[in-house]
Amino acid sequence: MKALILSGGKGTRLYPLTYTSAKQLIPVANKPILFRVIESIRDAGICDIGIVVGDTANEVKEAVGRGGHWDVNIEYIHQPVPLGLAHCVKISQEFLGDDRFVMFLGDNVIQGGISPLIREFASSEWNSQIVLTRIAHPEQYGVAELDDSGRIVRLVEKPKNPPSDLALVGIYMFDKHIHEAVDGIKPSWRGELEITDAIQWLVDHDYAVHPYIHRGWWIDTGQPGDMLEANDLVLEELDYKVEGYVDRDSQVGRRVTVERGAEIINSVVRGPSIIGENTRIVNSYIGPFTSIYHDVVVENSEIEHSMVLEHSHITDVGTRIQDSLIGRDVVINRSPIRPRALKLTLGDHSKVGIL
Ligand code: TTP
Repeated sequence: MKALILSGGKGTRLYPLTYTSAKQLIPVANKPILFRVIESIRDAGICDIGIVVGDTANEVKEAVGRGGHWDVNIEYIHQPVPLGLAHCVKISQEFLGDDRFVMFLGDNVIQGGISPLIREFASSEWNSQIVLTRIAHPEQYGVAELDDSGRIVRLVEKPKNPPSDLALVGIYMFDKHIHEAVDGIKPSWRGELEITDAIQWLVDHDYAVHPYIHRGWWIDTGQPGDMLEANDLVLEELDYKVEGYVDRDSQVGRRVTVERGAEIINSVVRGPSIIGENTRIVNSYIGPFTSIYHDVVVENSEIEHSMVLEHSHITDVGTRIQDSLIGRDVVINRSPIRPRALKLTLGDHSKVGIL
């Protein structure tokens, strides 16, 4: 069995964070989402992984390499324009051959325990297995309608009037018949080859598509709020360890990870939280549900329920920062120069909430 990870796309809903960088590489609880996806595929016993990449190909390749870090073989498949999830299958036919495979969206975070499901499909008779979960607003997703005996009747992409509350989670399993399906469908009104249409094609042609209903959590990290929610959920499940330095004047909660080379000086850190490698927290308060990534400095400041990416500096900020997603190399400080005013250099689509 092989795996296909989709890591192209534009990530427009996460601008400005994803203007220049891949959303799949945003660290949730200090580990890029894409790395979490690779780990669950490896845990299912799959070694051959194809990653579909687009504009951010170089960044993804640099971060992931050929897969040696995870003991897997990684090949890259270039998608010049994001023409849909089924288009990703189409351009990967050479890599996939006639093998059964699992396809993962590279920006989805799912509660552990999905690996046995993939293993089960490897030896099953089904032509496809899809993963569904009950959600409150299915109209933003692919939605499945099942009959009384639990068989799939129909799948619709982002329906205005959803036929059920069962959304398609970003994990799909297929055998070789999916290639006939993607060749048999036409682009949708939004110009994309939809995977829901390809699965519908399988259903219509009497192939066995098995629905599995996932009962744990699942987050499609399309928007900043989703990122923070995924971060909360993963932090809740982490095994905590302190490998960095905590001085005697600091209070660090039980559910806090302090990674190698990090320093906590005269500060309070409440868990669940994670402080990344070589990050310095000085005279500060880090509240619950916060992930501070590598090489960050937080000094004389307070941050809670937030994510801060690498190389950012937050110093002397008088107001507590909360519910925030702060990108790479960001500088937030108190300016000593009068007049006292907010001095902002913000990229397009930035969002700032001021008291
Ligand atoms: P989406 O979230 O559907 O699309 P997107 O990443 O372009 O985001 P936005 O809507 O904010 O612009 O994509 C789901 C995943 O699949 C994501 O990891 C990107 C990937 N993808 C591709 O690799 N190729 C594609 O053609 C599409 C549509 C998505």
